[in-house]
Amino acid sequence: MLCYTGHLWQPLRGSLRWAHLAHLPAGSGVWGDLSGAATGRGAGSLRVSSFGSTEDPCVQDTSYHTPVLEKEVVEALAPAEGKLLLDGTLGGGGHTRRLLENGAWVLAMDQDPEAIEWATRRLEGMEDQMIALRANFASFPDILREAGLGPVLDGILLDLGVSSHQLDQAERGFSFMRDGPLDMRMDPDGLLSAAAVVNQWTEEELARIFYEYGGEKASRRVAKVIVKRREERPFETTADLAAVVGTVIPKRGPASPATRVFQGLRIAVNDEMGALEAALASAHHWLKPGGRLAVITFHSLEDRIVKQHFRRHSGAEIDRPEWPAPRPNPDYHYRLITRKGITASPEEIKRNPRSRSATLRVVERLG
Ligand SMILES: C[S@@+](CC[C@H](N)C(=O)[O-])C[C@H]1O[C@@H](n2cnc3c(N)ncnc32)[C@H](O)[C@@H]1O
Repeated sequence: MLCYTGHLWQPLRGSLRWAHLAHLPAGSGVWGDLSGAATGRGAGSLRVSSFGSTEDPCVQDTSYHTPVLEKEVVEALAPAEGKLLLDGTLGGGGHTRRLLENGAWVLAMDQDPEAIEWATRRLEGMEDQMIALRANFASFPDILREAGLGPVLDGILLDLGVSSHQLDQAERGFSFMRDGPLDMRMDPDGLLSAAAVVNQWTEEELARIFYEYGGEKASRRVAKVIVKRREERPFETTADLAAVVGTVIPKRGPASPATRVFQGLRIAVNDEMGALEAALASAHHWLKPGGRLAVITFHSLEDRIVKQHFRRHSGAEIDRPEWPAPRPNPDYHYRLITRKGITASPEEIKRNPRSRSATLRVVERLG
């Protein structure tokens, strides 16, 4: 459903009030200045959104995306009045809603303008507690820095990947189940589309992303058949690509043979690993002591990146076999809150099968 009808991209006048409430540095027009603060990754795509009207059907509708591990996220971030939380993956606004309902202020981001439009309409009535920005979460340090802020965050949430709504829309080209253009960009202004990758990248590069990002064992064979076919005719649609992949990988079980190839492509198109690594690398600079970082991943590669990052930064000492004794860890920033990743309960998986592959990991900034 298309819910955007009016002038959405306007600076939020009410946000200055929020800055005072949040006890953020006053006098600099902090939040008012955000509309001009786009720098670095995602530059040029930053927008501050206004809120929709209660008559808008999107406000009532929750079909956009069902949030996973909602209760666990609330427990991890302990949203409360006076806390400032960053939701880097607003999506349909499900998690943000819970954070707002518990009294927190939320700085929310999404690189997909449709998500911003939808969520801000759903969250109408809570606008004094929230600012929604169209931006890549990798650029959140630039945004806070431009606004003259330091370590002001009580929590950061990253719920990675795509929303159900993005997958369901054939014209976004994420799905092999619905025929559409080979696009897969979460940010529709992004420079790289899936068609460009499939039609222009070398056979080796294709094999690498299918294997590394998709975990596809037949990656080389798939890359080879793609390169051969595109010499005759470039790929334009998701169905076309899925059919060619299907000639190499036999269908076993309920999942489409193209699942892993499509995942690898999507991750490459959106530089998902680059964005995750950039956000992880700087998160500790922006969290207050005691502030928490919560990340929900959906496949083993991103989970491994998060797990290793959290481990590396949560040990007081480092030990190597070649050293006579352990040494202090210069990058000791966090306390591990989740030793093992938190996964969805059987009830949640039944209600929302997408939660099956979700893992939540949480760390806390040391004082
Ligand atoms: C899994 S959905 C989030 C769902 C959300 N937590 C909810 O409750 O509805 C992921 C969202 O994050 C966005 N996203 C993914 N990577 C992003 C990035 N690097 N920067 C900004 N948004 C991103 C996607 O566009 C999508 O809307």
